[in-house]
Amino acid sequence: MSVKDKTLSILENNKGIYISGENLAKELLVSRNAIWKAIKSLKNDGYNISSVNNKGYCLSPDTDILSSQSISKYLNRDINYFNIKVYKTINSTNSAIKELAINGEKEGTVIIAEEQTEGRGRFGRKFYSPKKTGIYMSILLRPQIHSSKAFLITTATAVAVAEAIESISNKKAKIKWVNDIYCDNKKVCGILTEASFDFESGIIDHALLGIGINVKPPEEGFTEGIKDIATSIFDNKNSASSDIRSRLIAEVLTRFWSYYKNIENKSFLEEYKSRSILINKEINILSKNSSEKAVAIEIDDDCRLKVKMEDGSIRLLSSGEVSIRI
Ligand code: ATP
Ligand code: BTN
Repeated sequence: MSVKDKTLSILENNKGIYISGENLAKELLVSRNAIWKAIKSLKNDGYNISSVNNKGYCLSPDTDILSSQSISKYLNRDINYFNIKVYKTINSTNSAIKELAINGEKEGTVIIAEEQTEGRGRFGRKFYSPKKTGIYMSILLRPQIHSSKAFLITTATAVAVAEAIESISNKKAKIKWVNDIYCDNKKVCGILTEASFDFESGIIDHALLGIGINVKPPEEGFTEGIKDIATSIFDNKNSASSDIRSRLIAEVLTRFWSYYKNIENKSFLEEYKSRSILINKEINILSKNSSEKAVAIEIDDDCRLKVKMEDGSIRLLSSGEVSIRI
């Protein structure tokens, strides 16, 4: 870690508290001039750091800039596992992590962006990713499981995100099969898992787990196309603490990791089913060329959606094939 990164780490862990340049220099075993340079560079990056003679430096408690330091302070036991990289703006965190995966980067690398210019969902759909108000993150995974079980990654994540949302807000989080999280009957989060596997064995080489969460209302509102179906966890930007996105990221990573370690146990499946909003609802099943009405009956242990069609026949839907509209 550079002096700048270490300085930020100390300031993040002591937000709102003054620390003298001398103490920073002593702790990091560098000169006071090196600390001064690090502070100058952090200020250039937009950090609000006040400098007061005889007191030292203090990072404003209002700081709302994502960094690996702002997130790591909320991660405890798995802190060493994740290698978190944060970008101001990126096309898509899933695209960026794909490049790393192809170049052999190890499991646990996480790319997070303050904004995405080409955020995407399933079937090439767009995921609106405006700056400062959401979480756009992708995790590189190398699970040694068969590709037919890739859906478990999405399912475990949906439960981890729903639980994480409830741990930092007073909202109830529900799951719309298979990859969306809803609060107040609107979508707050979408999950996109893309996997590459060995053709002969069928074993996954790498999986790119992308998670997009609307945390606060976007400054310019939701776009016309999604304003009736999308919402954010917090209704107003002042009702959430400044570091809420960092806390939520840490909650998601910690919960996801505990499920992922033993993913084939499916310990999250009952929770997934109990949070489902589709059961007993009339739904529209969209596939490439058709739209059919049905009633959702249940989610089975392979996470397929059992539905009753209008003609009374029963079908089991797999996540990769269809989209559901309520
Ligand atoms: P399904 O998962 O059943 O295929 P879906 O509508 O959730 O349906 P996805 O591809 O998973 O489809 O997600 C992309 C869709 O999410 C977009 O077509 C748009 O309707 C919606 N969307 C885009 N950006 C956001 C956002 N920031 N918040 C909530 N919803 C969004
Ligand atoms: C969905 O809406 O159902 C899936 C959307 C997934 C969005 C996330 S944001 C981080 C990652 N990067 C992307 O381009 N997409 C995913």
